[in-house]
Amino acid sequence: MSSMNFKDAVVVVTGAASGIGRALAELAVRRGAHVAVADIEIAKATDAAAAINAACAGDAGRAMPFQVDVSDAGSFSALAVSVARDLGPVNVLFNNAGVFAMGGLDRTSANNFRWVFEVNVFGTFNGVSAFLPALQASAAAGRLAHIVNTGSENSLGLPPGGQFTAYTATKHAILGMSDGLRRDLKSSGIGVSVVCPGAVNTGLWNSARNRPGSLGGPKPSPAGLAQALAHGQDPADVARMAFEGMDAGEFIIVTNPAIRKMAEQRNAEVAQALDMADRRCR
Ligand SMILES: NC(=O)c1ccc[n+]([C@@H]2O[C@H](COP(=O)([O-])OP(=O)(O)OC[C@H]3O[C@@H](n4cnc5c(N)ncnc54)[C@H](O)[C@@H]3O)[C@@H](O)[C@H]2O)c1
Repeated sequence: MSSMNFKDAVVVVTGAASGIGRALAELAVRRGAHVAVADIEIAKATDAAAAINAACAGDAGRAMPFQVDVSDAGSFSALAVSVARDLGPVNVLFNNAGVFAMGGLDRTSANNFRWVFEVNVFGTFNGVSAFLPALQASAAAGRLAHIVNTGSENSLGLPPGGQFTAYTATKHAILGMSDGLRRDLKSSGIGVSVVCPGAVNTGLWNSARNRPGSLGGPKPSPAGLAQALAHGQDPADVARMAFEGMDAGEFIIVTNPAIRKMAEQRNAEVAQALDMADRRCR
């Protein structure tokens, strides 16, 4: 298996001040990349970039903080300009920033539904739109060009227990977007992967601190979620497996085998529906 060459590559990771994004950013720096640590929380992004640079002293890459609100297309376009100016033409985009909302659809306000879609789904669309020209130029020059979207176990089925329907819908959308994008970009030389972790020990439980005033403003976090995520995987393991999957040329990168049962239940449901269609159309 030949590794993707990140030496001197320019990499953008959104949601990189915390959790999975931060771990992805650190691994990219370890592999020699110059990494934009992009986040809506610039103070935390600045701390994260400094910590990554301190931890990776001696490695060839470096981390630099940038502010971005992925749900704002203008903010993402400004990020593309700043990164090109400060780090150079982009080779790899990790559309990783995401937020979580608890609740069944019967108890989800339109504002909350919109917020989760604006960050998770439009945020990914905005990232692709802002960085596609640079990625196309990179691929055309025969250099590394790749988009990695952070999906979830929620992209592949419905995890047991709990209600988080709006979130699940966004992560199904991420898989659909990634799948279409893979075909859209097939002849351009830009690769596409979607990372689908199970539960990971991150700050995702506290997402609603960043909900904008126009969509209801910051909100206290659900009590049980922090404990549930505390038993999740280490973000560093998720990042390591994401890079291993990219190196292996995988499209869907699963980082936790424990989600097998859930994903296979969905696959079995589809197979059963196809069998029923065969019978009906006989
Ligand atoms: N933690 C899990 O169990 C888990 C499982 C599967 C998938 N994921 C996905 O992993 C991704 C990263 O989440 P995490 O678990 O590391 O959570 P996290 O909360 O630790 O990190 C998310 C980061 O995104 C930033 N962010 C939030 N809104 C933003 C916006 N509008 N613009 C830019 N940055 C923004 C936050 O400030 C934070 O630093 C998300 O897409 C999430 O859905 C998480």
